[in-house]
Amino acid sequence: MRDKKQFMELKKLTTFHIGGRAKYYYVVNSIAELKKRLAAIRRRKIKYYILGSGSNILVQDRILLGAVIKLGPGFGKIAHQGGKIIAGGAVTIPKLLSYCVKHNLSGAEFLWGIPGTLGGAVMGNAGTRDKSISIIIKSIAGITGLGNVEKIPAEKISFTYRGSNISDIFIITEVELALHKSSIHVIKKKIDTYRQLRSQQPRGYSAGCVFKNPSGQSAGALIEFAGLKGQTNGGAVISQKHANFIINKNGQAKAKNVWELITRIRKTVRQTSGITLALEIKTWGEFK
Ligand code: EPU
Repeated sequence: MRDKKQFMELKKLTTFHIGGRAKYYYVVNSIAELKKRLAAIRRRKIKYYILGSGSNILVQDRILLGAVIKLGPGFGKIAHQGGKIIAGGAVTIPKLLSYCVKHNLSGAEFLWGIPGTLGGAVMGNAGTRDKSISIIIKSIAGITGLGNVEKIPAEKISFTYRGSNISDIFIITEVELALHKSSIHVIKKKIDTYRQLRSQQPRGYSAGCVFKNPSGQSAGALIEFAGLKGQTNGGAVISQKHANFIINKNGQAKAKNVWELITRIRKTVRQTSGITLALEIKTWGEFK
């Protein structure tokens, strides 16, 4: 596999199907390789971004001057002992859940439908309205910008709703999860509940929920109340099915179109409800 590509089109690597090219793109498969790449990044004094499944980001249209690092299959292993799972940062949530089903491990069912990698899910404390991945994390391991390998127990991390205090340049290479043995019947039943919740969400190119839910409220409901459902800008549209989703309808929308819709939503919801919505998705590049 080619591990380095210049001017990789990020549009191809995000679920929004939006984004310009990255000046440097590296797929890395070992800690040694990561250290080497990070040393080069430090020498060049450039910024770097960590790409998981590309399912929670809006990338600028212009070229991204920096390096994008993606963890390859070398970080995609998964194993367990009793209820404890050890998985690489590149393991996807769907793969984690298939593993849980196969080995009768319960506790992660609420993650059903999240497309991201484990590393990304931990970083953003992914989950549902009332459950987040932090409740099953025992520890994480990763590498700092200076190339130091660290293992951090969950108690030392401060998790918030859809966020954490983990530095966005800390590369999560491994995650330890605390699950428990259960019957396949119970696990599948729980997954079905979450599958149903997710079925109310729209399909198409998107980055999932755009905004965080304000405390005790629903961002989707607030956007609907503001009368914004169905509004468009270029190829970007505020979903009719769930207003907290922006869909790149024809695959041709630009980051600029989405950003303008985001600005419109924030402004209108502030006027109609007095609430300033905070972004749940991450942005890469410059957005004003
Ligand atoms: N609602 C509306 N109008 C809308 C959308 C929603 O009135 O256009 C109402 C619904 O009727 C419901 C309430 O808002 O009463 C909550 O909606 P939903 O159950 O869809 O949950 P959510 O709070 O919008 C959260 C997560 C989702 C996750 C679901 C799973 C956030 C920001 N979102 O959505 O996560 O899939 O729970 O239940 O926390 C994501 O992280 O990307 C994401 C989509």
